[in-house]
Amino acid sequence: MPSSRESFASRLGFVLAAAGSAVGLGNIWKFPYVAGSSGGGAFLILYLVIVFTLGLSVMLAEIALGRATRANPVGAYNALGGRRWSIAGWLGVITGPMILSFYSVVGGWTIHYAVQSVLGRLDDVDGQALGQAFEGFISDPVAPLAYHAAFMALTIGVVIGGVAKGIERWSKLLMPALFVMLIVLAGRALTLDGAAEGVAFFLTPDFSKVTGDTVLAALGQAFFSLSLGMGALITYGSYLARRENAGRAALTVTALDTTVALLAGLIVLPAVFAFGVDPAAGPGLVFVTLPGILDRMPAGQAFAVLFFVLLGVAALTSAISLLEVPVAYLTDEHGWHRRRATLATGLFCFVIGVPASLSLGAWSGLTVFGLGAFDLMDYLTSKVMLPAGGILVALFVGWKAWPILSHEIGREDGPAPTWGRAWRLMLCVVAPVAIAWVMWGGL
Ligand code: PHE
Repeated sequence: MPSSRESFASRLGFVLAAAGSAVGLGNIWKFPYVAGSSGGGAFLILYLVIVFTLGLSVMLAEIALGRATRANPVGAYNALGGRRWSIAGWLGVITGPMILSFYSVVGGWTIHYAVQSVLGRLDDVDGQALGQAFEGFISDPVAPLAYHAAFMALTIGVVIGGVAKGIERWSKLLMPALFVMLIVLAGRALTLDGAAEGVAFFLTPDFSKVTGDTVLAALGQAFFSLSLGMGALITYGSYLARRENAGRAALTVTALDTTVALLAGLIVLPAVFAFGVDPAAGPGLVFVTLPGILDRMPAGQAFAVLFFVLLGVAALTSAISLLEVPVAYLTDEHGWHRRRATLATGLFCFVIGVPASLSLGAWSGLTVFGLGAFDLMDYLTSKVMLPAGGILVALFVGWKAWPILSHEIGREDGPAPTWGRAWRLMLCVVAPVAIAWVMWGGL
């Protein structure tokens, strides 16, 4: 099995695929509204600190574990830790589909907005009307589900094609295009009338607003955005070639992901203030502000079409990694055919996404602990399951599997890098304690 496993064709292949997993709706849709409802500047600082300490070390732990074992998360824990540890892998196999269910709903929204911009329905509309258009769309019981189905079908299609071929090809061209587009959009957003207030909100920290919940929101957002805590990067690490430097790859992916989130913040939040939208308005924020920015640009309609298509593609490359975890598990451990595993899991995710979608409109009255299905799934995965998965992978790599994994953080066939000990200290003590403490304070 190990020797026949496919690898990415190039180092760039792995970095692009892992960045493709990391960069997605989490950066462009979620980050601005979570920052907006968590008070702006103070949240941003917490987020950056968490990403470059806890996030980076957990990411490297996942990549190292995947590459050394060349297996899916359950197989990886099993190989180095025995059956008891494979529960940690299981957690990821369950978390992936849970995230994908509501992720695909939002992926469907991007397709809807792409279609709307092709039809020219987003032109000349002010902030308030855009807000109403968004509300109207998500409270329709049928259309969002149809788009959710379409997005899931695309995800299934790419995953059936296989990881290296499917993802490498997609990411190579489209990710850089999205990046350029974001820079242009930030340029426009920052020169809107009233943008300065949004910039100040985003960049000026006010620590008096920080509560346990803000810190947990930052932690959850960091794990979600970097695709950590559910084995996505264990799975992708299993396709990383031996001669590549895992540490450098992890740093590149983290830096790219963070840059995109910062850019998205610099696009959405200035526009929020310029258009008089409430920064704490929630999940619709990017869909309410962006059409307004695009409308104030030359060739705005063409730009809008391109933007929502690229956002959809970024969402797709992340969704692929969410689906790949259970699929790799079913094919590796149970001998299922890729096609069957992908169809079955994808269909399952579609079904559990249905109540999530309806909970934002037709079923908005139905709540558990005061949260609808969409918010509940989001809360459970970002704030509980991903951080818990992070604690487990840190403890596992730091304590249990260290003798085997210590040299994985550079080239697999090279010596252990000098910063290996600092990394181990992070994994053994700092990360588990800090994550547990934040979860305790926030929950
Ligand atoms: N990181 C992805 C995003 O920001 C979402 C994701 C989470 C993907 C967890 C894989 C695992 O959009």
